Amino acid sequence: MRARDFGRAAAGARTLDAADELRAFRARFALPKDGRRTLTYLCGHSLGLMPRDVPSRVAAELERWAELGVEGHFPNDAPRRAGSRARASAFPGPEAGWLDYHERFSAPLAKLVGAKPDEVVAMNTLTVNLHLMLVSFFRPTKRRFKILIERDAFPSDRYAVQSQLRFHGLDPRDALLELGSRRGSFALDRERLDALLEREGERIALILLPGVQYLSGERLDVGELTRAARRHGCAIGFDLAHAIGNVPLALHSDAPDFAVWCSYKYLNAGPGAVGGCFVHRSAAAAAGLPRFEGWWGHDVRRRFSMEPKFAPARGADAWQLSNPPIFSLAPLAASLALFADAGLARLRRKSAALTGRLLELLDAELGGRARVLTPADPERRGAQVALQFDPPPRRAKEFAARLRAAGVVADWRPPNVLRLAPVPLYNRFADVDAAVRALKRTLDS
Ligand SMILES: Cc1ncc(COP(=O)(O)O)c(C=O)c1O
Repeated sequence: MRARDFGRAAAGARTLDAADELRAFRARFALPKDGRRTLTYLCGHSLGLMPRDVPSRVAAELERWAELGVEGHFPNDAPRRAGSRARASAFPGPEAGWLDYHERFSAPLAKLVGAKPDEVVAMNTLTVNLHLMLVSFFRPTKRRFKILIERDAFPSDRYAVQSQLRFHGLDPRDALLELGSRRGSFALDRERLDALLEREGERIALILLPGVQYLSGERLDVGELTRAARRHGCAIGFDLAHAIGNVPLALHSDAPDFAVWCSYKYLNAGPGAVGGCFVHRSAAAAAGLPRFEGWWGHDVRRRFSMEPKFAPARGADAWQLSNPPIFSLAPLAASLALFADAGLARLRRKSAALTGRLLELLDAELGGRARVLTPADPERRGAQVALQFDPPPRRAKEFAARLRAAGVVADWRPPNVLRLAPVPLYNRFADVDAAVRALKRTLDS
């Protein structure tokens, strides 16, 4: 697209929005406002917007508590004794009770990550789940004791693995390996990874990588990376914070040992929402797996037998510690219902079109003044496009503030990376145009 076509492109955006088969979903979200102006929200990679059904879902559970007290745990129609197993179905109303509440999330989450329902559990938050997974899957020996992460790993992942190394009496200076990328790039460097695995593979106990990189928005190939890890006998897990609800995943067939995620980004379940965890069937079944245990991970049929010996529940459920926070899970139910209606395949098609347009317009309007860090191949990116600006005095932080003044919500992260994410559930092609127009004005001024 040439710069002079930009005016015509705006009309094009309206046409695309009118033809968008998912356009009705925007109305099912609360759109942030600034006074009377509806903001152009391109920040779903940080915090997704609130589905409009959330308040009524939460209110229904609060009312249930008020009306029934402890009996709220049991279905209305058939009060049952504690310990009997309730049937899991996808998000019945609050009349179904809380005893099996978390189980209703397994099937829809499994669908989103391409797993079997027993491989998935909604629980805790991402870093907590990461620690629980590292307890089980980072099992250093004298010969194999290192952890490999990317140089630009999200800090919480880095803190988690460093502290796990120290917990095992290891010094991160010897035992933490970092995979760098080529100078000036944030892309995963496969050659460098392969060389590192050739050199250090037999000393690496565990590899931790993202599904979608939080700075660059690059989508990594979970299957390929898992196979590379296996060739060297390493355990491997993925941080899917920026991948779940954003890109298709096939965790069961790709077969990493574990994955963890949060639900407040593309899953739109609200700040600090309940995250989740995938444990591959074969990994969960391994004999002698160490695990931190709690009563909610106990065999569900015997949970209320109050027996002293822990009998693990089947699959990922066994990693649960506590009874789940119902009021924090209710928003996730509202959001997953939207994913079921929209379908990830349709969302993905629209997402590629939105980012495709964003990249085209950035090239046409800002050409040369912004460096795109996100892969051009739509298969290798999700909803997020990341930019850096030259010359260096122009700071991403300043750009984000100026965009916000123009009614566009984006964000930035060191080193000087501006992140924009048109989210197919609630963003329009017109939002993409508005963001590029605002960026161009900022750069021109
Ligand atoms: C890639 C990535 N990993 C981990 C986290 C930490 O998540 P939590 O605060 O839910 O533990 C985040 C938070 O934004 C993230 O983006």
